[in-house]
Amino acid sequence: MAGVERRAAGAPAGGPVMGGVTVRVPAKVNLQLAVGPLRDDGYHDLVNVFHAVSLFDEVTAAEPDRAGAADRPVRVRVEGEWAADVPASDDNLAVRAAAALAARAGRSYRADLLIRKTIPVAGGMAGGSADAAAALVACNELWGLGLPLPDLMEIGADIGSDVPFALLGGTAVGTGRGERLTALETSGVFHWVFALADGGLSTPRVYGECDRLRAEAGAAVPWPRVSEPLLAALREGDAPALGRTLSNDLQPAALALRPSLAATLRVGRDAGALGAIVSGSGPTCAFLAESAEHAGALAAGLKDAEGCRGAVTAFGPVPGAAPAG
Ligand code: C5P
Repeated sequence: MAGVERRAAGAPAGGPVMGGVTVRVPAKVNLQLAVGPLRDDGYHDLVNVFHAVSLFDEVTAAEPDRAGAADRPVRVRVEGEWAADVPASDDNLAVRAAAALAARAGRSYRADLLIRKTIPVAGGMAGGSADAAAALVACNELWGLGLPLPDLMEIGADIGSDVPFALLGGTAVGTGRGERLTALETSGVFHWVFALADGGLSTPRVYGECDRLRAEAGAAVPWPRVSEPLLAALREGDAPALGRTLSNDLQPAALALRPSLAATLRVGRDAGALGAIVSGSGPTCAFLAESAEHAGALAAGLKDAEGCRGAVTAFGPVPGAAPAG
């Protein structure tokens, strides 16, 4: 499939690639996250406007060497700033994705995965889902399976609600758990700053806190609906309008669990961000800028803010799981 780099020379067309396959995959920010009532299966129906941004992990899948062949079928190693926070076990979403792909293919395939992490871990930017998506694309190529994108998206949806979007990329609205996607029309480029927090937030815990706060307030939870002004801002490439229409129903819960995020958002707003929002379940905060230069200035002001581990700039939309380099 498109979007992978073949490292091995001379691999037969459609056949297995004997060397490594490296796939680059973006983080996401939610431009709108409307959370509906809690379902019987423990999930919430969403309207989730995903936007892929230029903050990438890389996943390489390679045939294991002989020494590893008797070991577990899929092994993983993690490198990068966040490596210590990622499980290098069968719980790793990339390992689970590769194993699910092998099961779908009905054969006992093997792979060694190397994840180079740049996307914050447990940060609300779908880094684990991104790695799962990249592993699906890389192993599909490594094993010569040739499964089309819709099949990978279906397998990915069972691994995590955000995996299908990491495969698709761009800007899209997700319904259901967030896994049923429709690509959205956008114009131009949007410039972002992400304030990285010390320590992550557990996604189930943030959803649970959202339910708790809602029960406490006692108001009925409306059915989630996509914001028409937000769609118009995206179509028109109107960054100030997009900044005004960003929304996240999980933000009050993330702020309740991590009160210091309120100060982070304030620093960005006071410095002139067009919009300031907690990204997904947090604790990463996202700030919309007027331009790349403005993003650089905002990042400089945010990186020393209380509770911030650093600030990075990025732009979107970018494609989903795609060739490295
Ligand atoms: O699908 P994923 O495993 O990424 O979801 C992680 C957790 O986030 C779920 O276990 C659930 O607690 C929560 N979640 C939810 N509703 C969604 C998506 C996720 O409640 N639509």
